[in-house]
Amino acid sequence: MKLCFTLNDQAIAIDCDPAMTLLDLLREKLHLTGTKKSCGVGECGACTVIVDGEPVNACLFLAGQAAGRTVYTVEGLQQDGELSRLQKAFLEQHAVQCGFCTPGMLMSAKALLLRDPHPTEAEIRRALSGNLCRCTGYDSIVRAVQAAAE
Ligand code: FES
Ligand code: FES
Repeated sequence: MKLCFTLNDQAIAIDCDPAMTLLDLLREKLHLTGTKKSCGVGECGACTVIVDGEPVNACLFLAGQAAGRTVYTVEGLQQDGELSRLQKAFLEQHAVQCGFCTPGMLMSAKALLLRDPHPTEAEIRRALSGNLCRCTGYDSIVRAVQAAAE
């Protein structure tokens, strides 16, 4: 089918199998490899993107479900070629080690900040609870989101 949706502020029309996952569509057909594939079964959050303002696991979301919707991936966070405030905060707070969880963390955090620009620490931890990180111990990530929200 011809799938039409908005991706990182650009209109997309692409022939694809609507039953493929949004994750595979992004990575394999659109070559946006910032969104990571890890567990593939909705457990780790590495594949988190924002669809109509809500964080979703792209590995569980069918490409066909994106029709007519607005999708943001980590590639859409930059502003005029510069890292966003949230991305800079991750660097400044040393919230990135191996980096595999980082795109998903950023998108879950961005979705939180879109609905609540000044979340509490508890709200940040709850919003990131579906994103697993094997490296950082989470505290630096929470500090980064707090710093971006200030
Ligand atoms: Fe989607 Fe793990 S790859 S939740
Ligand atoms: Fe390595 Fe989070 S920085 S998994």
